[in-house]
Amino acid sequence: MQSSDIRARFLEFFKKRNHTILSSASLVTTDEQGVTNTTLFNTAGMQPLVPYLLGKPHPEGNRLANVQKCVRTIDIDDIGDKTHATFFEMLGNWSLGDYFKKEAITWSYEFLTSKEEGLGLDPHRLYVTVFEGDANSPRDLEAAEAWKSLGVPEHRIYFKGAEANWWPAVKGKDTWTGPTGPCSEMFYDITESGLGDLTPEQFEQADSEQKIVEIWNDVFMEFEKKEGTIVGKLTQKNVDTGAGLERLAAVLQKKDNIYDTDLLKPVMDLMVKAPNSLSSKRIIADHLRASTFLIADGVIPSNTDRGYILRRLIRRAIINTTDKKLDEKRISMFIDTLVGIYEKSYPELLSKKEYIKGVLNEEAGKFGQVLVQGIKEFEKSAENLTPEVVFNLYTTHGLPFEIIKEMAKEKGLTIDEVAFEKALAQHQSLSRAGAEQKFKGGLSDVNDPMVLRYHTATHLLHQALHDVLGEGVGQKGSNITPERLRFDFSYGTKMTDEQKKKVEDIINEKITQHIPMKQVTMPRAQAEQTGARHFFGEKYGEEISIYFIGDTLDAAYSKEFCGGPHVSNTSELAGPEGKWRFKIQKEEAISQGVRRIKAVLG
Ligand code: SER
Repeated sequence: MQSSDIRARFLEFFKKRNHTILSSASLVTTDEQGVTNTTLFNTAGMQPLVPYLLGKPHPEGNRLANVQKCVRTIDIDDIGDKTHATFFEMLGNWSLGDYFKKEAITWSYEFLTSKEEGLGLDPHRLYVTVFEGDANSPRDLEAAEAWKSLGVPEHRIYFKGAEANWWPAVKGKDTWTGPTGPCSEMFYDITESGLGDLTPEQFEQADSEQKIVEIWNDVFMEFEKKEGTIVGKLTQKNVDTGAGLERLAAVLQKKDNIYDTDLLKPVMDLMVKAPNSLSSKRIIADHLRASTFLIADGVIPSNTDRGYILRRLIRRAIINTTDKKLDEKRISMFIDTLVGIYEKSYPELLSKKEYIKGVLNEEAGKFGQVLVQGIKEFEKSAENLTPEVVFNLYTTHGLPFEIIKEMAKEKGLTIDEVAFEKALAQHQSLSRAGAEQKFKGGLSDVNDPMVLRYHTATHLLHQALHDVLGEGVGQKGSNITPERLRFDFSYGTKMTDEQKKKVEDIINEKITQHIPMKQVTMPRAQAEQTGARHFFGEKYGEEISIYFIGDTLDAAYSKEFCGGPHVSNTSELAGPEGKWRFKIQKEEAISQGVRRIKAVLG
């Protein structure tokens, strides 16, 4: 069965059972969902529905179903195996205070096993788990009974604890805020000969060997958590189910992994001849698919939040290619193939195809420069990979730590992560100290995001004035408020309109190029060698903090001795909606040979 048939059958099945079919929400969470503090992307079909699961009436009724795009990065280290993906689609049906365990379980079973209306899976290959009970909620005999009444033998119903049968399951500290509850999961035997009955131990073993795969989860939401603690019962009992499309496709297409299904195989086929490992190929296929959907939903690579995750995905894809490169031709080939697979279900991909390629090309190009330089440096020092060397590769050469680690692993070397973390913490406290110092100077309030933006804009302006007016320009003063920046500089004559326009254009170009603002700290003598701008005659300490706009210090557009703080990417100067531009409002003389510019972002 093709994946498009699985989607269609699922929606049809629940439509017949009086569910309203919703279209997929964006991958990007919104403030209205009330989950943006805990999740940057929708990681499950229930997430866009959080307010309704908490009791707000849904305009489309209390029975809903959809196919939701999801991105989950919590499992990122598992990507490359048979069943994990950062991007996936989740089939889900919901009851908002309407039906509960009996109906949910019955419909899950019917959809999985019915040949006419569902997927026609073999009931003899099905295993289920239910919650064994704890202080929060009793042993789920109701769910077990529901399974038994459908003919699932008792010994194929496994009782398990909260780590497996409570949703969301918690890895590390529980920070979940939202609806929650015990769940019942369905597993399917994907071995050729069939495993038959399994003892609880054999069931665990088969799960860990990926001989059985979890294909559906029915959550019975009765509780509300705040910051990981149950704060009470929900006003209504809900059902939240989720079935991974990729896994169902694997099962139905008789594949032992999701990468051989019609959802990913065409992408994997593009790499048949490449000599990199199977898991690297899977990482590339997975990460480029996730990136494609994220870019289509408006995410752009940056150094913070969602943009950072996208950047990491793109960079990891590149690192996993044989030659650590994604050029235009390859990007085009991958995106054409991915869009070809998905355009019918997600037409927005087709209209944004060239845009997606453009964003990927730009990011891959930037990363290419970082890598060429960084890898050279890495090779030079691979013999002697001390914590200082690693830290220098990270700060001065912009090589992501994860990539340094991967390259070291390829060479059979290990890196002292603890020493790196320590160095990083020290580095960050130095930047903070710098920030406090600078705070006393021309910055009004470093906690104000506008002040940070104007501070970075000031660095751009300083460099752009040099570009347009020549090296004679020297900074004479700077003052920043949340409303504007003011910059005084030495220059003999009034700027022409054309010169002002040129300066604005350069800065706006840098803003739209999404260039990272980075910081390094180094001894003064070394700092002076970097060519970073500073005031002659000013007293600097022995340790100098340099802020630079670019991927690496060497290739940076602007570099200055500066205590910060700054935004982390020039794109942030474009404001929350990405529309602001830099404008010079006034250019005037304040004394003989000294000019003052007032400028705004807006
Ligand atoms: N929220 C549950 C899950 O993600 C069921 O949809 O598994």
